[in-house]
Amino acid sequence: MTEHDTLPDRPSDDAVRARIVDDLTRARRRTALLTEAVDDDDLIRQHSRLMSPLVWDLAHIGNQEELWLLRDVGGRDPLLPETVDQLYDAFQHPRADRPTLPLLDPAASRRYVTEVRGKVIDLLERTPLRGRRLTEGGFVFGMIAQHEQQHAETMLATHQLRQGDPVLHAPAPPDAPDVRLPPETLVPAGAFTMGTSAHPWALDNERPAHQVQVDAFWLDTVPVSNADYQDFIADGGYDDRRWWDPAGWHHVRTVGLSAPLFWRRDGRDWLRRRFGRTEVVPADEPVMHVCWYEADAYARWAGKRLPTESEWEKAARHDPVTNDTRQYPWGNDDATPDRANLGQDHLGPAPVGAYPAGASPLGIRQLIGDVWEWTSSDFAGYPGFAAWPYREYSEVFFGPEYKVLRGGSFAADRVACRGTFRNWDYPIRRQIFAGFRCARDSAPGEG
Ligand code: AVJ
Ligand code: FE
Repeated sequence: MTEHDTLPDRPSDDAVRARIVDDLTRARRRTALLTEAVDDDDLIRQHSRLMSPLVWDLAHIGNQEELWLLRDVGGRDPLLPETVDQLYDAFQHPRADRPTLPLLDPAASRRYVTEVRGKVIDLLERTPLRGRRLTEGGFVFGMIAQHEQQHAETMLATHQLRQGDPVLHAPAPPDAPDVRLPPETLVPAGAFTMGTSAHPWALDNERPAHQVQVDAFWLDTVPVSNADYQDFIADGGYDDRRWWDPAGWHHVRTVGLSAPLFWRRDGRDWLRRRFGRTEVVPADEPVMHVCWYEADAYARWAGKRLPTESEWEKAARHDPVTNDTRQYPWGNDDATPDRANLGQDHLGPAPVGAYPAGASPLGIRQLIGDVWEWTSSDFAGYPGFAAWPYREYSEVFFGPEYKVLRGGSFAADRVACRGTFRNWDYPIRRQIFAGFRCARDSAPGEG
């Protein structure tokens, strides 16, 4: 078997520059919308100790763009006094402390990000996209577009934690087509190519491509729904130690968890608050705002388990007929609105079974978009991993304290979402847009 991941031919440098401008511009539209939807007082306030003030994210986005593009690639001097850099260094100040820092105010933050962006567009025209690793194929410009979109997702999570009237509006996602899907899909045994060495904008933790042998397994065809999860609650799932990882049991008991974050009981109904609106929990949406421990417990209750990261990626990328490993479940073409719920086009996941055009070759739905999916795997480097271009993106987080999430959510942009893309968080985290689907071993003879 060859060790490669298939990708179309390299586009022209002009086409790469046009793509960079498009991705940076789309990211900035999102940042602007999320930071203009609230007043200045709301921008500098801390809505949750788990999150930065929105104005910190805003200037941090500009500061990373200045550091990597204007100063490193462009060789320019700092635009602001050098004391500003450390304010926006995520490793120097935990989120809870950021409101007390002498941050740039909202107007100065906006001026800063706008000035940086103007100079970046000039720089892009003059920067060769061949011959230097950092800029090869536009990598570091793509890295910065991905960085801004990751913060746009974080800012949307801050909006979700914010109290007050709704300030964000978007059309509802598409319905699920009225077909009965098999609840589980058998993924046959065999090797596939995990990770990528070919994608020019893949981040260090996605590299390098390597062959992984995966035994046959069953994977849920769609994410676990709110109705499924309500069955677990109604069956006493939160009170039954048998289903829980020991650390998870300790956590739910100490913190007193009994339902997903943002849910509350109203007589016989479950209500949830989302972006300032309270509504009855819709039965057929993927469950969201559950931590890894809750996902793991649900899976055990259901007689299943969470998929490993390699199982998830094989289901999302491998075509068992052609034996190709592609970028997305549907192939190598870009994500489009009919294939996946991405980019904050909608303010929530679509019902389970939606997006038939985004199905995998085996018919598995919604692997990309809608909700991040918890996997059973700890975050670690692939064989041959090398930190690039900075250890603080991935390497410092490797280890058993972080669990990997895959597939992106409705809040993730297509520039920062693909079959190889890896996200990670603590197993107690619930404010992220995460759900899950279950897997189970196949019996001998099934595949
Ligand atoms: C990959 C989402 C875990 O938000 O902590 C943003 C992305 N890295 N700025 C994070 C990131 C630096 C990161 N996650
Ligand atoms: Fe960041």
